[in-house]
Amino acid sequence: MTRRSCAIYATGIVCAHLLIVGIALVVAQVFQTMIHSRLKKEITLTEKSQMFEAWKNPPPPVYMEYYFFNVTNPDVFLAGGKAAVKQIGPYTYREYRPRVNVTFLENGTKLYALNPKTFVFVPEKSAGNPEVDIVRTVNIPFVAIMSELNSYSFFLRTLVSMYINSLGVEVFMSRTVHEVLWGFKDPLLTKVHSMKPEVDEYFGLMWKKNGTHEGEFVFHTGEENYLDYGKIDTWNGMRYMSWWSSNQSNMINGTDGAVFHPLINRNELLYIFAADLCRSIHLAYVEDVEVKGIQAYRFAPPNDVLMNPKENPSNAGFCVPAGDCLGTGVLKVSVCREGAPIVVSFPHFYQADPKYINAIEGLSPNKEEHETYLDLQPTTGVPIRACKRAQLNIILKRIQGFPKTKFINETIFPIMFVNETATVDDDSASQMRTMLLIVTLVSNFPLLIVGMGIILLLVLVVLFCRNRQKKVGNFVPHRLPRTELRLQYGQGFYSLI
Ligand SMILES: *[C@@H]1O[C@H](CO)[C@@H](O)[C@H](O)[C@H]1NC(C)=O
Ligand SMILES: *[C@@H]1O[C@H](CO)[C@@H](O)[C@H](O)[C@H]1NC(C)=O
Ligand SMILES: *[C@@H]1O[C@H](CO)[C@@H](O)[C@H](O)[C@H]1NC(C)=O
Ligand SMILES: *[C@@H]1O[C@H](CO)[C@@H](O)[C@H](O)[C@H]1NC(C)=O
Ligand SMILES: *[C@@H]1O[C@H](CO)[C@@H](O)[C@H](O)[C@H]1NC(C)=O
Ligand SMILES: *[C@@H]1O[C@H](CO)[C@@H](O)[C@H](O)[C@H]1NC(C)=O
Ligand SMILES: *[C@@H]1O[C@H](CO)[C@@H](O)[C@H](O)[C@H]1NC(C)=O
Ligand SMILES: *[C@@H]1O[C@H](CO)[C@@H](O)[C@H](O)[C@H]1NC(C)=O
Repeated sequence: MTRRSCAIYATGIVCAHLLIVGIALVVAQVFQTMIHSRLKKEITLTEKSQMFEAWKNPPPPVYMEYYFFNVTNPDVFLAGGKAAVKQIGPYTYREYRPRVNVTFLENGTKLYALNPKTFVFVPEKSAGNPEVDIVRTVNIPFVAIMSELNSYSFFLRTLVSMYINSLGVEVFMSRTVHEVLWGFKDPLLTKVHSMKPEVDEYFGLMWKKNGTHEGEFVFHTGEENYLDYGKIDTWNGMRYMSWWSSNQSNMINGTDGAVFHPLINRNELLYIFAADLCRSIHLAYVEDVEVKGIQAYRFAPPNDVLMNPKENPSNAGFCVPAGDCLGTGVLKVSVCREGAPIVVSFPHFYQADPKYINAIEGLSPNKEEHETYLDLQPTTGVPIRACKRAQLNIILKRIQGFPKTKFINETIFPIMFVNETATVDDDSASQMRTMLLIVTLVSNFPLLIVGMGIILLLVLVVLFCRNRQKKVGNFVPHRLPRTELRLQYGQGFYSLI
């Protein structure tokens, strides 16, 4: 046998092995399975996991933008007309939300944590100075008290109404943005406080919310099952809420929105428990997006999340008392706002029944500015960009005994909305890109083997053809005895390979 044919043999053998092993690995997905199980192990909330530090002190900056609806025609509205509003803002605050009092429970399969949020004003991202800018909006304490009194006798209501009138309290109030957000001493609440000390004298949408947490959370670490990574086990010691009217609505589902399990697929629904909405919501896949060079899946709340129970019966549990339902796109949250007639929706009543939008002059809902979405890197489940938008409204209607409300047409009146955003920081993004590259390389390693096998196969074919040409054309008689050569030709040796 010649040196050349020996090389051909060797190449053939190596090539066959590469192809067999490579194809077997591709078919069995050994490397992919390996790296996926590695991800499932690594992505947990345990002391040694890399995710843990980022979970305790999330590096991406979170910005909270507040927009207010400045009422331009209060007199027209009180006389039975249509209210007109003008959006003002944003007033932007940087949010700091570290996890504190982190304690492992039950052999490290669960952990307890608090998540206090601190807000620091960012003038350069704001439209004005909140301490100076005046906003005219609904006098929420007054409306809340009126609505509370609705269940009392007409006589008592009339008395209280006359007393409130003598204090000069109106349905609309003009206050600075800072006061409406962070609290002011309300004259009416001060009077109530002197009779019922448990009622706070101060009112503010974010009163006592700076530096405080939204409850005690116990999370699953995800060590037992990667699908449970970051899922809420209990909130304030509860597994279920008690204020909604069905067991399904009372469920505390999913995570708190900061983390999601790895290996997300496009067909699943992601659940988030939103303590500020007092309920769980779900998000569904919308499209593929790219953020800072990272491929991500966009998830957003589908239309059915806030849909009228007539169209989506599973929402019937959010009507409290049972059967007392509002329309599509609005959620009454009185149950967890001490009975105040507070309603949440998306900004400008995005995705809501047009009757709510048309009832107010100056609203123009659009997807771009008003949708809530979450962009997740699907392999790791890490949120790359998040944008949470929600609006706070109050129900204004005629209340017997309060002459000021006599002509009011019942309206879900918008007060303000928020745009809370976070985008992965550049450092984390480049770490993420490197990590994803490694994952891709490792899981595609078998393809590399197959590729090498194919290259060798090509080399083999070339070698073989050239060899054949040489042997047929100008063989080298001095190397082999003539007879032997003839014999080989005679037996068709070369055609046997
Ligand atoms: C959290 O920890 C601090 C001290 O580290 C303690 O003062 C505080 O009471 C703890 N909070 C709760 C709710 O346990
Ligand atoms: C903790 O682990 C020990 C030993 O592995 C086991 O006996 C015990 O039941 C576990 N406790 C809990 C709360 O899971
Ligand atoms: C919130 O508290 C922090 C620290 O306690 C303070 O720096 C910040 O100014 C406060 N924010 C507001 C809006 O009062
Ligand atoms: C809101 O409306 C009031 C009353 O019209 C006005 O005085 C105030 O300047 C407005 N606020 C802003 C920020 O434009
Ligand atoms: C709701 O759950 C409670 C206890 O978890 C149970 O007793 C009750 O029957 C359930 N109600 C419905 C309608 O399933
Ligand atoms: C909670 O999750 C279950 C399925 O796990 C679902 O049926 C239920 O509707 C969810 N509840 C809410 C309020 O999202
Ligand atoms: C919300 O924030 C994002 C990112 O900061 C910004 O692009 C968007 O315009 C904001 N939305 C509104 C309604 O201003
Ligand atoms: C009251 O509001 C409803 C819708 O919210 C509207 O159809 C009706 O025309 C309004 N009535 C008056 C007098 O404005």
